[in-house]
Amino acid sequence: MSLKRVALWAGAAILALAVVAVGAVFLIFPRVSKAPDLKVEATPALIARGDYLFNHQLACGGCHTPELEPHRFSRVNDKTRIGAGRRMGGAPEFPTDIYAANVTPTALGDWTDGEIYRAIVSGVDRTGRPLFPVMPYPFYKSLDPEDVKAVIAYLRALPPQPVTLPRIKLPMPLPIIMRLVPADPTPEMRPAAKNEVALGRYLAFSSSCFECHTKRNERGEPTGTPFAGDNPFGLPGGGVARSANITPDKETGIGSWTRAQFIARFRAMTPEAAAKMAPEAHDADTEMPWTNYSAMTDEDLGAIYAYLQTVPPVHAKVETFTPPAK
Ligand code: HEC
Ligand code: HEC
Repeated sequence: MSLKRVALWAGAAILALAVVAVGAVFLIFPRVSKAPDLKVEATPALIARGDYLFNHQLACGGCHTPELEPHRFSRVNDKTRIGAGRRMGGAPEFPTDIYAANVTPTALGDWTDGEIYRAIVSGVDRTGRPLFPVMPYPFYKSLDPEDVKAVIAYLRALPPQPVTLPRIKLPMPLPIIMRLVPADPTPEMRPAAKNEVALGRYLAFSSSCFECHTKRNERGEPTGTPFAGDNPFGLPGGGVARSANITPDKETGIGSWTRAQFIARFRAMTPEAAAKMAPEAHDADTEMPWTNYSAMTDEDLGAIYAYLQTVPPVHAKVETFTPPAK
C-alpha cells in the first residue's frame, strides 16, 4: 500500500471511531435515573418555605424572574412576573443567548412533581434533555429533599405567566459536553441551626456563593482556590465585574468584618435600595443577586459568615469592577 493510502485508511478509521464515540455519548448520556415517583403535599407552610428558598436563599428568582425595566443595580426582580423566565445572554462569557426557562404552571403544568424534582437536582428536562449548567444543578444535587419539595410546592402555586421563551442553541462541541454533566443527586440533610458552620457550608454551596466566588474554567468547573473570587462577569455595557475575595484574609478578604457587618451588608441591598441605584449604562454593576439574598434570615446569613471564617485565607486583591474601555 502506498503511504497516501495508509494515511487515507487511518483518517477514515479515526473518523469512524469519532462517529462511534459521539454516538455512544448520545446513547449513554445523560446518565440519570427515571424521575422519582413523588407527590408533594402542598401546605401553606411548605409554600411559604418554598417562597423563601426560591426568591431569597437559593436565588432561583435571580435568574428565572424578569428584572424591572429599566435596569437597576443587581437586577431587581419584577414581582408581578415571578418565574416567567428571562433572556440571560449577551455577556461575553456565554457562547450564545441563554434563556432561564419559564417555571410557572404555564410551562410546568403537565410535568409531574418527580420530573420537576429531577430537573432541579439532576439537570434534565421532562424528556431527558440535558439542561445547560448555567442552571446550577451541579450544586443542587446535594439539596435536602425537603427543601426541593418546598420549592416545587411554591412553583405549583405561582400565578401562570403565558410566556414562551426560545430554547438554547449551543455551538458544537457544547451539546456533546453538556450531556456528560447531569447526574443522579447525592442528597444531604440541611444541618440544624445550632451546627452553625455545617449549616453555613451547606448554604454557601447550595446558594451559589461557592460557584461565583471561585475561579472556573471555560467549562464552568471550579479550578481556583475556594472563595478567593476573581471570576469575571461581562456586563452588558462593556464593563467587567469580578467576584470578591470572601476568604477570611484580613486585608484582601472579609477577615476583618464582624458577623453584624456581614449581615448588614446584605440587608442594605434591598430591592428598594437597589432601585434607587440605576447604573448609567451598567457602570459599577454586579452579577451578584444581592436583592434576592437581602431577605435571607440572620440565622442563614450568620451561618454563612461563620463557615466563611473557617476556610483558608487567601491574600489576593480583587478589583471587583472595571469600567468599559472608553
Ligand atoms: C444562574 C441562573 C439560574 C439559577 C440560579 C436557577 N436556574 Fe433554573 N434554569 C436556568 C437556565 C438558564 C435554564 C434553562 C436551561 C436550558 O434550557 O438548557 C434553567 C432551567 C430550569 C428548569 C427546567 C425548565 C424546562 O422547561 O426545561 C427548571 C425546572 C428550573 N430551572 C428551576 C430552577 C429552580 C427551582 C432554581 C432554584 C433552586 C433554579 N432553577 C435556579 C438558570 C438558573
Ligand atoms: C452570580 C454571581 C455571584 C453569586 C451567586 C454570589 N456572588 Fe458575591 N459577589 C459577586 C460579585 C461579582 C461581587 C463584586 C461586586 C459586588 O460587590 O457586587 C460580589 C461581592 C460579594 C461581597 C462583597 C465583598 C466586599 O468586599 O464588598 C460579599 C460579602 C459576597 N459577594 C458574598 C457572597 C455570598 C455569601 C454569596 C452567597 C450567598 C454570594 N456572594 C453569591 C458575585 C456573586
